[in-house]
Amino acid sequence: MTTTTTLAEVAAKSLGAVRTLESHGLDYCCGGKQLFDEACLAKGISPESVMQEIEQVQGANTPERNWQTAPLGELVKHIVATHHEYLKLELPALASRMEKVHEVHGARDPENLNRMADLFGSLRQEMEMHMHKEEVILFPFIEQYGQAAAQGQPMPPVPFGSIANPIAMMEREHVGAGDALGEIRALTHDYRLPPYACSTVRALYEGLQALEADLHVHIHLENNILFPRSIALERR
Ligand SMILES: [Fe+2]
Ligand SMILES: [Fe+2]
Repeated sequence: MTTTTTLAEVAAKSLGAVRTLESHGLDYCCGGKQLFDEACLAKGISPESVMQEIEQVQGANTPERNWQTAPLGELVKHIVATHHEYLKLELPALASRMEKVHEVHGARDPENLNRMADLFGSLRQEMEMHMHKEEVILFPFIEQYGQAAAQGQPMPPVPFGSIANPIAMMEREHVGAGDALGEIRALTHDYRLPPYACSTVRALYEGLQALEADLHVHIHLENNILFPRSIALERR
């Protein structure tokens, strides 16, 4: 590792690295371009000790799929089957929990609960459209790129000039989703349960936190691995 290594590059090493960065509140996802050393020091932690922790986690776990070298088509399938499927199940489930909480407790904290329901409603709508664009437009081209490269053929033409264009749009939408979840986290004071919390509030908060963690890994696989690898193929 050099002093110019970014958080995204450290995260791209393994899922163990992702989890370690997460446990220290280091944003490898939308803030991935930040330098690893600087981000650690800004949090008051030593970069060496974080790196050591990452190496220990890597040593302890069975080797995971190396997404830096796996065929792009395989990575696309993994993202869709693991992270898109997760969102397709969880977004509607969380929406009905949110609705129930709103119905039962709306009068107690109308301002915050309204804001949270609005934020979640637009997050859901945007993520559903976002995944649709990835699955129907961008990912099929990325799979074709991966196949062409494997067969030593030229990259197939894309209707949007360069693959970097839709990728830039997807990255902007990732920032939007990250911001919405950040705002929900702030509204709930880091998911501290309110005194009136019933089991639905608890299930809502747990579900939102799990969704945030899954989305971080999901965006990491796209922003830090899938997208740079696709752009590199086009430029080769
Ligand atoms: Fe995605
Ligand atoms: Fe995405």
